[in-house]
Amino acid sequence: MLLDLALPMLRRLPPETAHRLTIRALRSGFAPRRTRPDSPSLAITLWGRQFPNPVGLAAGFDKNAEVPEQMLRFGFGFVECGTMTPRPQAGNPRPRLFRLEEDEALINRLGFNNDGIAAGAVRLAARRRPNGIVGANIGKNRDTADDIADYVQGVTVLAPLADYLVVNVSSPNTPGLRELQRKSAVTALIERLMAARAAVVPENAPPLLLKIAPDLAPEDRVDLAHAALASHVDGLVIANTTVARPASLRSPEAHEPGGLSGRPLRAPATALLGEMYRLTQGRLPIIGVGGIASGADAYEKIRAGASLVQLYTALVYHGPGLVLRIKRELEALLARDGFTRLAEAVGSAAHSPRAPAHGR
Ligand SMILES: Cc1cc2nc3c(=O)[nH]c(=O)nc-3n(C[C@H](O)[C@H](O)[C@H](O)COP(=O)(O)O)c2cc1C
Repeated sequence: MLLDLALPMLRRLPPETAHRLTIRALRSGFAPRRTRPDSPSLAITLWGRQFPNPVGLAAGFDKNAEVPEQMLRFGFGFVECGTMTPRPQAGNPRPRLFRLEEDEALINRLGFNNDGIAAGAVRLAARRRPNGIVGANIGKNRDTADDIADYVQGVTVLAPLADYLVVNVSSPNTPGLRELQRKSAVTALIERLMAARAAVVPENAPPLLLKIAPDLAPEDRVDLAHAALASHVDGLVIANTTVARPASLRSPEAHEPGGLSGRPLRAPATALLGEMYRLTQGRLPIIGVGGIASGADAYEKIRAGASLVQLYTALVYHGPGLVLRIKRELEALLARDGFTRLAEAVGSAAHSPRAPAHGR
């Protein structure tokens, strides 16, 4: 793939410049024309939607919904656009994105730089011949007077246009945002958003998922699991970037403030995913994200309880050809363990018996 070949050149540029150039190249046609069909063993149906494979593009790569079709053609089973906020905002001062080469990681403190929900909505509405599942991730403006109203606006505008919605209460770069993960706040927020969704899309509404941080304290995890079940949220995305700095980090940029993603996030994110799967008794579909760079990494999250997975950082280090590699490896791992369908493997490493998390 051309973008794989361009990778060494892109990696010599400052990371945000490389990202902007990549989006521009994709917009001007540097993407595969079509994808090969996926193996039926990789397909999964969730929320009445058929995912051809479980490997998705995580939020943050296509914040403004500029290139979802192009990314689907690299073989992703679904693409998540955003985070979008009601009003456009510039984000934090640069530099604000750092490569941790030695650790196959990134640190970002972008701070929700985006064109705003209206611009994203126009692009999503203009999708011609949609060829896959595209979700929208929503947030709040940094200087908003009313946090909940910002999310309500996101749901109201984007619910008719997105195949699923993600409520991002877990980015570390917007002050106060992660406070919304507290039990009482989550319950109130989800209830308001469910009502907003029902008002604009009464039937076959897109599922509403909550994206959480890997840095939740143990007691907050229990509370959040209860709140998620009680509020009837449709699923969880686990996890966002971490503010932790594991002692294993070797890169000189490791001290930069912001959210850490990539390889060092894999184990803690999978541990949180397994814990939340147990705490919610497998009753909520989970999208597992954080440090996936191989089929084995994806399989580990699926066995811990993820029905779908996503990645971002590994694309920076391995290029978009990685998507096909992960799917091939995952297919082989499922066959090795005697699973004929992906759904059979979901949560198979968890200890407690599992209630079906599929369908709705
Ligand atoms: C540069 C960058 C920007 C991101 N922006 C967002 C965002 O806007 N909203 C969000 O929910 N997550 C965002 N994320 C987090 C990713 O969606 C994902 O949860 C995290 O990076 C872990 O996955 P990974 O290790 O495969 O990158 C961003 C990550 C990176 C690296």
